[in-house]
Amino acid sequence: MLSKILDGNKISKKIIQKIKKEVKYENRFRKRPPGLAVIWINNNISSKIYIKKKTIACNAVGFYTEEWKLKSSIKEQDILILIKKLNNEEKIDGILIQLPLPSHINTQKVIESIHPKKDVDGFHPYNIGCLCQKKPKLRPCTPKGIMTLFKEYHLSIQGLNATVIGASNIVGRPMALELLLSGCTTTIVHRFTKNLKQHLQNADLIIIAIGKANFLHNKNIKKGTIIVDVGINRIEKTNTIVGDVDFESVYSHVSYITPVPGGVGPMTVATLLQNTVAGYKKKYTYDENI
Ligand code: GUN
Repeated sequence: MLSKILDGNKISKKIIQKIKKEVKYENRFRKRPPGLAVIWINNNISSKIYIKKKTIACNAVGFYTEEWKLKSSIKEQDILILIKKLNNEEKIDGILIQLPLPSHINTQKVIESIHPKKDVDGFHPYNIGCLCQKKPKLRPCTPKGIMTLFKEYHLSIQGLNATVIGASNIVGRPMALELLLSGCTTTIVHRFTKNLKQHLQNADLIIIAIGKANFLHNKNIKKGTIIVDVGINRIEKTNTIVGDVDFESVYSHVSYITPVPGGVGPMTVATLLQNTVAGYKKKYTYDENI
């Protein structure tokens, strides 16, 4: 029997190898590697883990990286000054500010201060707007990474009933836009949704990103569903990481599923590298007045 696992580890390694070769080649005539600046506020354990994974991958492909580890008491104005400097820095092609930010910082203002051409997270309203208008430029990493995973496994999702669980700016909303772009009939369910069960039973494809360990069970889904689990939840008792899906319970029901860990996480990192290379190669044109 063929495996039902959509292996993000395997596909991300393939992408990373390809980027490594590309960087080596481009470096010869551009005379510098792609550059990524990562800003993070030192108050969050999961941010620390994400940053470590991103930095390891950047080093593996030969990027130039700058890590800006800021105190949680930093003033918003000082972050804006740093971003302005990085926006004008020749050797930096991408700027990533790890979210969430402390509550005294206006996250939207900070995101909007990153120049759209260096917005490798794809969170700037300009980039989100382009995705919304079917003309994507830099695209949010997790949703784009999931689309790449489908492509690599030759999964045609056009026409499927897709249900996204969770409506966050980082995953749920841009995910819905990606699915729409690929021709899915797309539903987002969230905390105010009535008849959750009905929406899940109707879904051919479920993407879940809510941060609730083992939330989705076999009773909620129909046979043959494709499930993508974006959740990363630490179980203190066993010191293990689990997703938002009760993997054991749904496995016999699904046609495909992403594991946690080793599914979506590595694809997010690989996509960040792809976006940084796109910025480096000036793949997209932007109005400089934005
Ligand atoms: N926090 C959780 N996921 C992400 C992500 O993809 N990008 C940023 N900047 N912060 C995050």
